[in-house]
Amino acid sequence: MTVFDASPRQLAQDDMVAHRDGLALTTREGPMHDLSCFPDGRFDLVFHPTSNCYAPEVEPVWRECFRVLRPGGALLAGFMNPDVYIFDDGAQERGSLVVRHPLPYADVIDLPTEELQRLLERTHLMEFSHSLETQIGGQLKAGFLLTHLFEDRDCGPPGTGRSRYMPPHIARGRETQRLEPLSRSKAGGSASSPGYPCGTPC
Ligand SMILES: C[S@@+](CC[C@H](N)C(=O)[O-])C[C@H]1O[C@@H](n2cnc3c(N)ncnc32)[C@H](O)[C@@H]1O
Repeated sequence: MTVFDASPRQLAQDDMVAHRDGLALTTREGPMHDLSCFPDGRFDLVFHPTSNCYAPEVEPVWRECFRVLRPGGALLAGFMNPDVYIFDDGAQERGSLVVRHPLPYADVIDLPTEELQRLLERTHLMEFSHSLETQIGGQLKAGFLLTHLFEDRDCGPPGTGRSRYMPPHIARGRETQRLEPLSRSKAGGSASSPGYPCGTPC
């Protein structure tokens, strides 16, 4: 099993837990849109927990997931419901939902400088909303077949914040299968790949 993350601190924690619990785990550091340290078809399963809200673009991430999976491999992925980004975070912390931002939203683009500065003092991770077109459509475009999808309301205390009105996470338990390229199964020969902590209660 390999854990891939951009944060050396997260990976050090994963190493510590693996060592403590006797788990066979390899850690690799890098950005999720560039898995070039892994060869094509390296994995049977990619588990992508909700984290692409920290990447400016998601389509390169799905293409890389597809590339590193073997044909018939599976992707389990979770991501934010993009609609949660229309709300004002400050108002939400005070218990109100106030519509503020048009989509697509990005902390670094849409927040005024002072507000961005305050956010940077709390976390170094900047968030980006991603449309369903780039999340679900992006996976299909990369070559995946969608087999399961669910909407997750289980985020923060029940009935609080945005989860009272909408599922903040989508497809946490989704499985998306990488299909065998058609040309490979038909011709029997080899074919190239067909291309391809949130602090606020949700
Ligand atoms: C919600 S946490 C998930 C942590 C852990 N892997 C887990 O499954 O519980 C999101 C992780 O995404 C990582 N991350 C954020 N931006 C990233 C990027 N561009 N490339 C790779 N990892 C990134 C963060 O360092 C953080 O560890």
